[in-house]
Amino acid sequence: MSSSDLIIAIDGPAGSGKSTVSRLTAERLGVPHLDTGAFYRTATLAVLEAGVDPEDAEAVVEVVHGTDMEIGDPTVILDDRDVTSTIRSDTVSDNVSAVSAHPEVRVLLVDAQRRWAGERGGACVAEGRDTGSVVFPDADLKIYLDASPEVRAARRSGELPGVTDVGAAIERRDRLDSSRTASPLVIADDAEVIDTTDLTIDEVVDRILGLLG
Ligand code: DC
Repeated sequence: MSSSDLIIAIDGPAGSGKSTVSRLTAERLGVPHLDTGAFYRTATLAVLEAGVDPEDAEAVVEVVHGTDMEIGDPTVILDDRDVTSTIRSDTVSDNVSAVSAHPEVRVLLVDAQRRWAGERGGACVAEGRDTGSVVFPDADLKIYLDASPEVRAARRSGELPGVTDVGAAIERRDRLDSSRTASPLVIADDAEVIDTTDLTIDEVVDRILGLLG
């Protein structure tokens, strides 16, 4: 398999290790890293800044339509402003599930994600919730990363035990992301499931590269 058109789709819930693992895997293969969550986060920031209710489908779609986002790795630009750290704020995290649940928003952003990869030559390591099931259904390799709820909460908070707030926020986001009608977080039929609870990042990356043969 040549790496010139290789697509690896890595999906999973928050704290599963997706971001670090997919970034490193892309680096090891020398291909771009596509962070699809950054698209939904940037759209959510635009919606909040416009003062629009994240539940109001019509108004949300109108904002997302008129938004100019440039998703780099790591720099993210929204209408000429650097929003790299703002899109990771709690306010955005708390509202991103509502914005990303609107089917029309997903159509717009999935399209933008496919263009993103095409403009960079086609090959990429994509991470998200639906990259193997919807964005790149013909991906060469599909991975679903998971980990225990405790470890996921600890990873997200950057510390161990005493993480109930982060745990509750993650649980809420997982519940919303998994129960929405449009492209819920699912394990693609042909995905390899890797439980990262007791694995180091390097072990996970090695396992993924090993699956490429
Ligand atoms: O990966 P992340 O935590 O940055 O993603 C933020 C949110 O964006 C996540 O809660 C759900 C949404 N998302 C999505 O619906 N589909 C994707 N492919 C990626 C993210």
